[in-house]
Amino acid sequence: MSTSNLAKSDIVYCRGEKFRLYLDRETIANRVAELGARISADYEGRVPVLIGVLNGSFMFLADLLRSIEIECEVDFLKLSSYGASKISSGVVRELKKIDADIEGRDVIIVEDIVDTGLSMQFIVDRISEDNPSSVRTATLLHKHEATRVESQLDYVGFRIKNLFVIGYGLDYGQLARNLDQIYILDGEEPQ
Ligand code: PRP
Repeated sequence: MSTSNLAKSDIVYCRGEKFRLYLDRETIANRVAELGARISADYEGRVPVLIGVLNGSFMFLADLLRSIEIECEVDFLKLSSYGASKISSGVVRELKKIDADIEGRDVIIVEDIVDTGLSMQFIVDRISEDNPSSVRTATLLHKHEATRVESQLDYVGFRIKNLFVIGYGLDYGQLARNLDQIYILDGEEPQ
């Protein structure tokens, strides 16, 4: 692994591409803790159901849950993933349904990233059909410049430019999800 003039963990390679550190573990941990504290305060006296959207949200969801200090439940759903065609076709399908009965419950949908916004809109609409008491959304990352379908985002970790990001649950051809920091393609300009 080449380190150039950066610390060793600041550079990673995935599928032959070079990536450099964008959000380090401390920055992520601090922000996730803030979101957890806000959720704990906002839902005091209630027991929200957090619904993680597989696969990408698993690491964010795990850390977010550990920073929530009230009682809560967790469940998962999974959407079809067609890469770019999903975006152009506008077709999103549900591959795994939630198991929880969410009628009358306070639901928080948890995503790793909102890009076009298509997935989040689909999930909010789908979850709303089950008559929950309330629906809010949480996403670690929001590519705000890429978003074409605006859905209400209640808890946002980081608003980011239109960058290709990997790590902390986010993949590059299914790899790199296990990295505990978030990296961008080397050469992409964050600001
Ligand atoms: C990613 C991410 C969101 C969606 C966001 O999932 O986890 O679900 O894309 O994109 P959008 O705002 O343009 O709809 P992906 O389909 O890559 O599957 P994964 O979670 O298994 O990586």
